[in-house]
Amino acid sequence: MAEKKIKTIGVLTSGGDAPGMNAAVRAVVRRALSKGLDVYGIHRGYDGLMDEDVFKMKAQDVSDIIQKGGTILYTARCAEMRTEEGQQRAADTCRKFGIDGLVVIGGDGSYRGAEKLANHGINVIGLPGTIDLDISCTEYTIGFDTAVNTAMEAIDKVRDTSTSHERCSIIEVMGRNAGYLALWCGIANGAEDILLPEKYDYNEQALIDNIIESRRRGKKHHIIVNAEGIGHSASMARRIEAATGIETRATILGHMQRGGSPTAKDRVYASIFGCMAVDLLCEGKNKRVVGYNKGQFQDFDIQEALKMQKSLDEYEYEIAKSLSSSYMKDAHKKVLKDEML
Ligand code: ADP
Ligand code: F6P
Repeated sequence: MAEKKIKTIGVLTSGGDAPGMNAAVRAVVRRALSKGLDVYGIHRGYDGLMDEDVFKMKAQDVSDIIQKGGTILYTARCAEMRTEEGQQRAADTCRKFGIDGLVVIGGDGSYRGAEKLANHGINVIGLPGTIDLDISCTEYTIGFDTAVNTAMEAIDKVRDTSTSHERCSIIEVMGRNAGYLALWCGIANGAEDILLPEKYDYNEQALIDNIIESRRRGKKHHIIVNAEGIGHSASMARRIEAATGIETRATILGHMQRGGSPTAKDRVYASIFGCMAVDLLCEGKNKRVVGYNKGQFQDFDIQEALKMQKSLDEYEYEIAKSLSSSYMKDAHKKVLKDEML
């Protein structure tokens, strides 16, 4: 429990930016002001605590940002925060500005920094902000919904040209070491194959066989969604083209997936998360992170949240495979076999 009533809240965004972070910042600022608290924005994540880039925020400072991608607070990866001296310095900056509650919007790494700050006496609340969806305590992270829609639209476009040229396309999506974005794009785009770090068996020959077989059945394109955690899309394309004789192109979607106006879901959930963070601090809670699971907004102890494990939804994965043409090929073979009996 926080030892005394919170009077001043700080807010920062850290790690990779994600669409919806602005909605969360806006919610923190306005909720805190509505409760009579002072609010400070901190520029460039933990870097801003190192060099005291801290400024008082008014309600108007967050006008006209809910629809904007990126983060008006800027973000950074701050090496100094990983050191004891850096953590002490960050806590000193909070104290200097009277910040007794800090809202950190970012991923697991940012939570680790927040936990260290809590050990130095600052009350902290973490909000999950990452397009990767790789935070174990929550089914939803700010930015994933927008990113998956952005990637889906881009893949649809690649598919058009891929079909015209009767090519195979390998499209690499972000996600760091996690395959959530790739899995969702695989289902949403009806990809023929999906390569996920959690499932990849390095069986490129199976992929090649699938491509040859689907071309034999008259398919005009072959879309492979490849997760960044597997990577090597360009060399994979060269090998596949050599083995199949089918023109193959690699497209790496890259940082476009992190930008753009957030979807309604990202705006609304980020706004709820932002308000929850302020409410939790005002209730005297500390070292908590917020999440959304099975229709409920929840909060967890930061240490416990960091220890949790998350894996891909097996049912979603099975569905993705069962709807792909590679599976349909197997189903078709089975029908033929049954007919011959
Ligand atoms: P994300 O928050 O998206 O997972 P990072 O892993 O890059 O992104 O972490 C963001 C920042 O959080 C880092 O640049 C660093 O400042 C801080 N951070 C990460 N891990 C730690 C740690 N173990 N201790 C203290 N700070 C950390
Ligand atoms: O965590 C978000 C993310 O976009 C990952 O999907 C990706 O691996 C990484 O950040 C890229 O980081 P950077 O913007 O530093 O290249």
